[in-house]
Amino acid sequence: MFTGIAPRYDLLNLVLSLGQDRRWRRRAAQLTRSQSGDSVLDVCCGTGALSALLRSRVGIEGTVVGIDLTETMISAACDKVTGVQFQVGDACHLPFEDRSFDAATMAFGLRNIAQPQLALGEMLRILRPGARAVILEFSTVARPIRPLYRLYNRLVIPLVARALLGRAGAYQYLTDSIEAFPPPLVVSRWVRDAGFERVRYQRMSFGIVAIHVATKPKG
Ligand SMILES: C[S@@+](CC[C@H](N)C(=O)[O-])C[C@H]1O[C@@H](n2cnc3c(N)ncnc32)[C@H](O)[C@@H]1O
Repeated sequence: MFTGIAPRYDLLNLVLSLGQDRRWRRRAAQLTRSQSGDSVLDVCCGTGALSALLRSRVGIEGTVVGIDLTETMISAACDKVTGVQFQVGDACHLPFEDRSFDAATMAFGLRNIAQPQLALGEMLRILRPGARAVILEFSTVARPIRPLYRLYNRLVIPLVARALLGRAGAYQYLTDSIEAFPPPLVVSRWVRDAGFERVRYQRMSFGIVAIHVATKPKG
């Protein structure tokens, strides 16, 4: 599915989120607390929007690696973002040594992974002790706006997808996967079960998204 939407993915994000997606990713990048010289891994990097923000945080002394399963996403990222090492790979089998990164991120990836706990375990493995994982994902919206949000998801998203992509099918998946994704408390439990500590999350935009932050234990 991601292969087909790669060329228009950024535009769709911008339109469908009414420009909020940039704010969400900026906050996620900030929460990594990554700094000049750090090495950061962006898992499920897609077209590299978050990787680019991480790149400006770590500077030329640092390293950002972006990994994604979909080749067309990776080639779109390479065309758009400089200074990031993009590569094709699976979040559930990260091709990196244990304890090799100072921070790791995943934006809108976890929902698409059949075995999210496996991917979280991999994030833990490749982080150095004391390093942070930041996971940005759709969440459960505040009750008063839930009916409006559902209407938006079921009516507006397919319409916009048809207008911009020429088909609505791929974004039917988006709607379904958002509705099926568990609430942030459950995601927190997965993160804790993977072995992270200091697990917490913050909601943004009335709970449309949540950003989970967790630390790899030092011991
Ligand atoms: C919704 S996009 C998010 C892209 C980007 N992080 C962003 O913020 O826009 C989800 C991405 O996850 C990737 N993906 C899905 N399953 C994956 C896996 N097992 N390993 C690596 N990437 C995966 C897809 O190829 C897609 O590019």
